[in-house]
Amino acid sequence: MPYVIAAPCIDVMDKSCVEECPVDCIYEGNRKLYINPKECIDCGACEPVCPVEAISQDRRVPPEYADFIEDNRRFFTEVLPGRDAPLGAPGGSHTTGPIGVDTPMVTER
Ligand code: F3S
Ligand code: F3S
Repeated sequence: MPYVIAAPCIDVMDKSCVEECPVDCIYEGNRKLYINPKECIDCGACEPVCPVEAISQDRRVPPEYADFIEDNRRFFTEVLPGRDAPLGAPGGSHTTGPIGVDTPMVTER
């Protein structure tokens, strides 16, 4: 059950979560960060450090943010604007650096 970053992260991007993640699976978009559901080991270390409480386990995401569960996944499985292939599971955000784009759902918010 991976963890998910929801709407409160948008335009805040505090990034304390990135420092806590032992497997480096939190990737930076343009206005928000995204947890890779294939790489997250569900340790939960990121959840309490977010100052705007944007992070929760997928089965505990507040109903108003339910669409962010699938949207976090889409960030890695679909081709993002300006790219020619899905990100997939690149093995850590330190290898990729900031991705710099968001999913269409986040861009439109
Ligand atoms: Fe966003 Fe909170 Fe991390 S604002 S970058 S989810 S610490
Ligand atoms: Fe990392 Fe949070 Fe998952 S710290 S391993 S993204 S639960």
